[in-house]
Amino acid sequence: MVCSPTAQVDPPHSELMRPTIEPDTVVANTNRLPTLIDSFGRVHESLRISVTDACNIRCRYCMPETVLGFLPQHRLLPYNSIARIVSILARSGIRKVRLTGGEPLMRPNLEQLVDQLAAIPGLQQIAMTTNAMLLADKVESLQGAGLTHVNISLDTLRESAFKQISRRDGLDQVLAGIDAAVSSKLIVRLNALVLREINLQDCIPLVEFARNRNLVIRFIEFMPLDADRQWSMEQVVNGCELRTHLESHFGPLASIPRTDPAQPSSDFGFIDGRGGVGFIDPVSKPFCQSCNRIRLTADGKLRNCLFGREEWDLKVACESNATDEHIHSIVSDCIKNKYGSHGISSSDFQQPERAMYQIGG
Ligand code: 5AD
Ligand code: SF4
Repeated sequence: MVCSPTAQVDPPHSELMRPTIEPDTVVANTNRLPTLIDSFGRVHESLRISVTDACNIRCRYCMPETVLGFLPQHRLLPYNSIARIVSILARSGIRKVRLTGGEPLMRPNLEQLVDQLAAIPGLQQIAMTTNAMLLADKVESLQGAGLTHVNISLDTLRESAFKQISRRDGLDQVLAGIDAAVSSKLIVRLNALVLREINLQDCIPLVEFARNRNLVIRFIEFMPLDADRQWSMEQVVNGCELRTHLESHFGPLASIPRTDPAQPSSDFGFIDGRGGVGFIDPVSKPFCQSCNRIRLTADGKLRNCLFGREEWDLKVACESNATDEHIHSIVSDCIKNKYGSHGISSSDFQQPERAMYQIGG
């Protein structure tokens, strides 16, 4: 399939508004630690923090139908340790953190962690990825504590397809969470994952839904990270095919130039300026060469890639009263060992042992 050439338009309003931590309130770090550069010259500025592996739904592209047990409290990295690690990494150039899970709102008092993170000098964004089931009641306190961005997963507007994908009811709750987020001061984006046999028909209504709220919706290709290990290339609807499908309904999409070179999505706008669409294509067009992300799992292991097979234990380091310099050296070691690319398409690719909910989306 050939993607058609594109015109260029300005980014939608929601994209122009960032960051909400005003630049002049971002205090420069005076006690710098060495920048986190890997052996391919990639400078790491983004940390994804999973705060729990628990979730209130069971998306088939992520979790198994039945979970034998989530991490018990004592195995979770405590908020104080997370905040300590982030403050060390902010001194090394980390600018963005994203709270993920499982479902991050399943961890009690998440506002408390956000509040601790908001006090760390040097951070420009405190974002969260959520399924929004619990968001309506939490959005105000999270924003008050210092959350700046929220990405909400929404794969369908049909209750039956929601149930087929997530093996649970709850679309109304999700929609209430989206309404609450849109009414807040947070910068809101939607994420959709398309499984060919279930929700390809939902893409056009999802884009309409986003446009009606002047939101950007990003379509993420299904990656081999499902607990059931049912991933196959046949189920992946790639970004190019999706774009052609959307253009057949909406007319040509206009490409928006990347503002951030490490941004994983290719973004497009509409002639009338309402909303936008992005494509995150890790399977068909890997963006590893510009990856600036590292990941901390809920049990305190640092990973340099979703598909990495190695982990560095920061929970043990924090518990043994390691110095800031020692923690920094563990992180540096993790980053130095980062591969150039994830290799999903290579014949010897092996799915990582942990599924998405155990790593952090
Ligand atoms: N492939 C791609 N993205 C995934 N997510 C979860 N599992 C997968 C997968 N196998 C993403 C979903 C969800 C976010 C939390 O993680 O897009 O919105
Ligand atoms: Fe839960 Fe997110 Fe995984 Fe869905 S993708 S099961 S919402 S952690």
